[in-house]
Amino acid sequence: MNLDDLYRETILDHNQSPRNQGHLEHPSKTVGLLNPTCGDQIQLELLVAGGQVADIRFNGHGCSISMASASMLTEAVKGHSVEHALRIAQSFKKFLMGESSPVDLGDLAMLKGVSQFPSRVKCATLAHNALEKGLAEG
Ligand code: FES
Repeated sequence: MNLDDLYRETILDHNQSPRNQGHLEHPSKTVGLLNPTCGDQIQLELLVAGGQVADIRFNGHGCSISMASASMLTEAVKGHSVEHALRIAQSFKKFLMGESSPVDLGDLAMLKGVSQFPSRVKCATLAHNALEKGLAEG
């Protein structure tokens, strides 16, 4: 399997078996965000406790890139500190602009190819922007 196939397979896998999709029973924060260019939207439910993203779920509707990216993001931040979660969101956005990431992005790194399609960068970063918004709201 070459690298392009691996990228494709991983994105497909997150679409077919999204991680952490659904609802939390008692979220401490819920944040929604709309991609104004297409009308797709995502909602994140967060359980933040003791400075940690103890649990997270996503729901909404969007293209395969936005949904795969949301699934990957939830995996990357769940169980980590709020600080680390924010670093992931910020590093991923820079990563799509060609910078190397100082933190392990996990499966999110498989979305590297999106950087060649500027119109899709908004799709890939929708969940990240929602997470930043949710965590910034204190
Ligand atoms: Fe709407 Fe990708 S086309 S989020």
